[in-house]
Amino acid sequence: MIRLERLTKEFDGLTAVDGLTFEVEEGEIFGLLGPNGAGKTTTVRMLCCLIKPTAGTAFVGGLDVRKDAIEIREMCGLLPEAPGLYGELSAYRNLEFYAKLYGVPRSKREENIKKLLKMLDLWDRKDDPVGTFSKGMQQKIAIARSMVHEPRVLFLDEPTAAISPEAAKVVRDFILELKHERCTIFLCTHNLDEAERLCDRVAILNSRLIAVGSPSELEKSLGLGKTEVHLERVSEEIVRAVEKLDGVRDVEVSGNKLLVGVRDPDEVNPLIVETVVGHGGRVRYVTRTPHALEETYLKLVREGESG
Ligand SMILES: Nc1ncnc2c1ncn2[C@@H]1O[C@H](COP(=O)(O)OP(=O)(O)OP(=O)(O)O)[C@@H](O)[C@H]1O
Ligand SMILES: [Mg+2]
Repeated sequence: MIRLERLTKEFDGLTAVDGLTFEVEEGEIFGLLGPNGAGKTTTVRMLCCLIKPTAGTAFVGGLDVRKDAIEIREMCGLLPEAPGLYGELSAYRNLEFYAKLYGVPRSKREENIKKLLKMLDLWDRKDDPVGTFSKGMQQKIAIARSMVHEPRVLFLDEPTAAISPEAAKVVRDFILELKHERCTIFLCTHNLDEAERLCDRVAILNSRLIAVGSPSELEKSLGLGKTEVHLERVSEEIVRAVEKLDGVRDVEVSGNKLLVGVRDPDEVNPLIVETVVGHGGRVRYVTRTPHALEETYLKLVREGESG
């Protein structure tokens, strides 16, 4: 659905985006991760045809960003980093304005606006001027605006950066619902938990592409995954036995749990459990360490910077 081919952008000698090549499948939720200034917003702006690449190109729905700007803009929705809304217009009118611009027929327009405002919990504020809204409420209106014409491809530049946890959950659920409708979603985020929960695949960027893959593939490729075994009680004997298993990298003890570095959890986790039980351990539950993507991300970005 989206294909980047050596996509590059320079600003006065600074290479903000350097030769990106990767693809995003139709119906995929794809995350773009990277430090501040890594070129995420610049990439999105090129894909939405707001700025032209310096070199290379990209295709959205088979259309070339260098040539087919109008068609691509019709197909796409964009939540920009700094959404400009019409402060003096009401929430409803802001959305209506955009829906009209995209030629959404009246009845569909009314249906979509109502659905979006209800979902984002702003239906009862629909007639208030957006200029009087809080930052998070404005962000929600901007999100609704990016979707009001039911785009096939949706670019979201940090959609949940300014909003409360409960609103972020609504937005995430909404993104997942759009995925079921086969919308392709391209998401820039600094929230790695969110990326891990939502994204089928992610790209890690620091001007250049550092890595691309599903969160679990990336984690596996670095061998960073950890298995947590929560026990009634940890003993020396159990720790020593687990350390000896093939495929176990290291074992840490934290209170009543073992943190076991494993390369291939599918293969090694059952062995760990057997070994623990065989040495008299009583297992309460077994889980993967949360924030695995965070660790992967930090390692890859650091390696990318030093190399
Ligand atoms: N219009 C512009 N003119 C000059 N330089 C620019 C322009 N837009 C972006 N840059 C530069 O390009 C680089 C990448 O910026 P970009 O906004 O794409 O980063 P980002 O990954 O979105 O960062 P953040 O996480 O902070 O949003 C930065 O060094 C920035 O200063
Ligand atoms: Mg940005």
